[in-house]
Amino acid sequence: MVKIGILVLSDRASSGIYEDKSGIEIEKILNDYIQNEKKFYYELIPDEYDLIVEKLIYLADEIKCDLIFTTGGTGPALRDVTPEATEVVCDKILPGFGELMRLKSLEYVPTAILSRQSAGIRKKSLIINLPGNPKAIKECIDPIFPAIPYCVDLIGGSYIKNNEDKISVFRPKNKS
Ligand code: MTE
Repeated sequence: MVKIGILVLSDRASSGIYEDKSGIEIEKILNDYIQNEKKFYYELIPDEYDLIVEKLIYLADEIKCDLIFTTGGTGPALRDVTPEATEVVCDKILPGFGELMRLKSLEYVPTAILSRQSAGIRKKSLIINLPGNPKAIKECIDPIFPAIPYCVDLIGGSYIKNNEDKISVFRPKNKS
């Protein structure tokens, strides 16, 4: 059983101005890519630093999610505080995730450099920031997904099995 937290950060979606599409897109893609039985924990909240910190800690420490994806709040606007809240709860930062997502996203939009998306480990949870644009979700998950199962192995989380016909993953061999 893989536990997956999806934390949607949006002032407008959380106040009902529009419907969340990004969180739903994350769930759809992970249902496609991950073979294991899965349980999703979905939260939709405004861009409030204290609330984001509280929800990330809840998903990591209480629910014990293997993976936590956030969407939104990574840009330069005043209310965008997701990377700061992520980094404060993490024991370790994994800069490679954000670096790769920005690099690959630049193939789609020049404004990809505006995303400050981060990633890191809290206890046995891997937390990854994704941008808020629903179209950006797949563009960002696809390049990083191959490294996710091995990262979760290394932190003592569930053994994630991919759907080989949908996406490949990489686990280095001969690691003792
Ligand atoms: N990354 C991808 N792959 N596709 C996109 O359309 N939009 C960018 C960037 N990253 C985008 C992207 C834009 S316009 C912004 S402002 C930032 O993500 C931050 O978005 P967020 O604040 O909703 O997280």
